[in-house]
Amino acid sequence: MKKISLTGDRPTGPLHIGHYFGSLVSRKELENDYESFVMIADVQALTDHFNEPEKVRANVLEVALDYLASGLSPEKTTFFIQSQIPQIAELTVFFSNLVTINTLKRNPTVKGEIAEKKGLFGTKGEKLTYGFLGYPVSQAADITIVRAEIVPVGEDQLPMVELTRKIVEKFHRIYKTEVFPVPQAKLSKAPKIMGLDGNAKMSKSLNNAIFLKDSPQEIKEKIKTAKTDSETKVAYDPKKRPEISNLVLIYGLIHSISPQEAAKAIGDINYSVFKTKLAEDLIKFLEPIREKRKELEKNPEEMMDILAAGTQKTLANAEETIKLVKKAMQIIY
Ligand code: TRP
Repeated sequence: MKKISLTGDRPTGPLHIGHYFGSLVSRKELENDYESFVMIADVQALTDHFNEPEKVRANVLEVALDYLASGLSPEKTTFFIQSQIPQIAELTVFFSNLVTINTLKRNPTVKGEIAEKKGLFGTKGEKLTYGFLGYPVSQAADITIVRAEIVPVGEDQLPMVELTRKIVEKFHRIYKTEVFPVPQAKLSKAPKIMGLDGNAKMSKSLNNAIFLKDSPQEIKEKIKTAKTDSETKVAYDPKKRPEISNLVLIYGLIHSISPQEAAKAIGDINYSVFKTKLAEDLIKFLEPIREKRKELEKNPEEMMDILAAGTQKTLANAEETIKLVKKAMQIIY
């Protein structure tokens, strides 16, 4: 029997090339080796978008379209929507007794996010919600509800997987039944793409991303206006010249070569000449994804049917897990 893997994304915007090289490519490989679950984390997205439900709702479809357009197969991967599995919410409540507030407050990823979201959570975090502080507990439930062993993620998610391991071990110790595997993170090896404005993160909210669904015109415009520096010739030197090096990295990724090899292949040319070439190559690289997405977009019901089928399959698995959990916790009457 294949090991179970689970990963997911928050539906807060369409997926971009950072997602593609950082996770979608490896998911395509993993779906052959594992029984793969990919979750659209709408409940988690609501922890910092609770006042924008229409945005989260619309992006569930966007993210699903990007998955299939990128070549993930609904025959191999089970796609589901987090909110449609009530057992996740149930398990979150049970797990919440096994995690201290102090542990949650120390989570470096959550800490960083709270600092970023001053508008929402206050400059000193005085408006921080219980839901946001606690989302790692809910994420532990996402992982364990299908009894996943493998969690393919980027580095920022390691604290979540570590917490999940701690919760699972504590659950087993206290309730004296081994219900879950102790899950393991599988780190993405891909180098991280920065935003086109030089920000460490490529993200929709920062308006510095190239989306898989961008038109050729949008790609041209974005690459043309991407931030560089006061030098003129292309080089790969991420410490001293991060912005141009990021563009060289992207060039390397679309040609399956290292950034150092990319710099060599590009040669000692002017930024503007390189940007024109990069935009052309990126447009060509994304063309099959863009075309497939256009096809899929014509029939959103079909996409929703795929999500519904995945949700049904996940529900069966989740019901079984929650039964074992309740038995261990002596709450079956
Ligand atoms: N926190 C993840 C992110 O922001 C999304 C996510 C939710 C997730 N539940 C998960 C990832 C479970 C892996 C496993 O990208």
